[in-house]
Amino acid sequence: MPTTQTREVTAAKRLDNVRYAIRDLACVADEVIQQGHRVLALNVGDPLNFDFQTPPHIVEAAYKAMREGKNGYAPSPGIAEALEAIRGEAARKGITTVRDVFVTSGVSETVDLCISALVNPGEDILTPKPDYPLYSAVLCKLGIAVNAYDLNEEDAWQPELADIARKVTPRTRAIVLINPNNPTGSLCSRQMLEQIAELARRHNLVVFSDEIYDKLVFDNEKPEDTPHIAFAAVAPDVPCITFGGMSKNYLVPGWRIGWGIVSGDAAAIKPYTEGIHRLLRARLCANHPEQYAIKPALEGPQDHLIEVRRKLRSRRDLTQKWCEATPRVSCVAPRGAFYAFPRIDIPESDEVFVKELIRQKHVMVVHGSGFGQKAGTQHFRIVFLPDEKTLTAAYAGIADFIGERFP
Ligand SMILES: Cc1ncc(COP(=O)(O)O)c(C=O)c1O
Repeated sequence: MPTTQTREVTAAKRLDNVRYAIRDLACVADEVIQQGHRVLALNVGDPLNFDFQTPPHIVEAAYKAMREGKNGYAPSPGIAEALEAIRGEAARKGITTVRDVFVTSGVSETVDLCISALVNPGEDILTPKPDYPLYSAVLCKLGIAVNAYDLNEEDAWQPELADIARKVTPRTRAIVLINPNNPTGSLCSRQMLEQIAELARRHNLVVFSDEIYDKLVFDNEKPEDTPHIAFAAVAPDVPCITFGGMSKNYLVPGWRIGWGIVSGDAAAIKPYTEGIHRLLRARLCANHPEQYAIKPALEGPQDHLIEVRRKLRSRRDLTQKWCEATPRVSCVAPRGAFYAFPRIDIPESDEVFVKELIRQKHVMVVHGSGFGQKAGTQHFRIVFLPDEKTLTAAYAGIADFIGERFP
């Protein structure tokens, strides 16, 4: 008789704190769907779930690459024409001290790789609170403590410098900026970037500037008017990796194409860059045929962005008006990306609030505690990608829910 294995296979202890609230809520939504209801999903930041379409010339470029047999492994850092196009993009962003660029399977892989290549056990990285949950998930995976600094809601969600100064230690290696921000939709001011640069210089920090939403700033009409300011343009000397990608700006989140732009003092950043390349080689390469769409995307027509920003501006305005008109809700107006992070004044946890909202009104948003927030505050994150009619129905459901639950 062969022996059978009966002992339970447990997951690594390190994963105990890995949460991804955005997708974890899906279990509650599944219950509701099984009861025969439709759920209005305002929880996942995928424009392709709504009335946004990938520019056809980008699809054609990837398809052509596949037809032409570009289906083997690519060079580990990325194909030459894509790297050149990303350097061009860095120049347009005002980054003058580019030392290296590399392509990854989405910004998700850039985040994982750049953190893994930098941090030793016992060291830490400053991440914003609230944050995009991947950062803390990667830190948990590596067994590194999360060192979170506050974003200040009273100051349009700017990083709270006093809190950063309190949290930074000799073992802190880097600081993460998400600009435009997920989940708040805020933008960092030039003055704030300058102050963070000064702090990075003083404490020898690498700056990870996640700028995946840099073209989705909708206060202005034309791309050349965009008020988005790249950190690396403000601080050319500071070791920095700027994260960028195709998922959001070019409407192809399923392709998994991202990149890193390394800038700063050449000698200072060299050993770290070599470490990144060791990991790039170990994982072979990023998705190959899709890399042929990077140059056409970055250098081809950008018309879709005008339409995307027009829709986002209108949906942001609708969202903001609703927040202002709804009792117990207040919100710092988002300026970029496609998220709003309203505060709610309720006598229960935002997680209970959000789960009951799904069960009773079939509207799915994500609780603020899933991103981290200051103690004593409650929020939820809205993805305002759906059209105005869908948003209006969703907001009516949330307003009714608040009115009925907290009369
Ligand atoms: C701030 C931020 N960074 C990174 C990512 C991951 O992007 P990608 O699809 O390129 O992996 C997201 C996705 O929502 C995000 O919001």
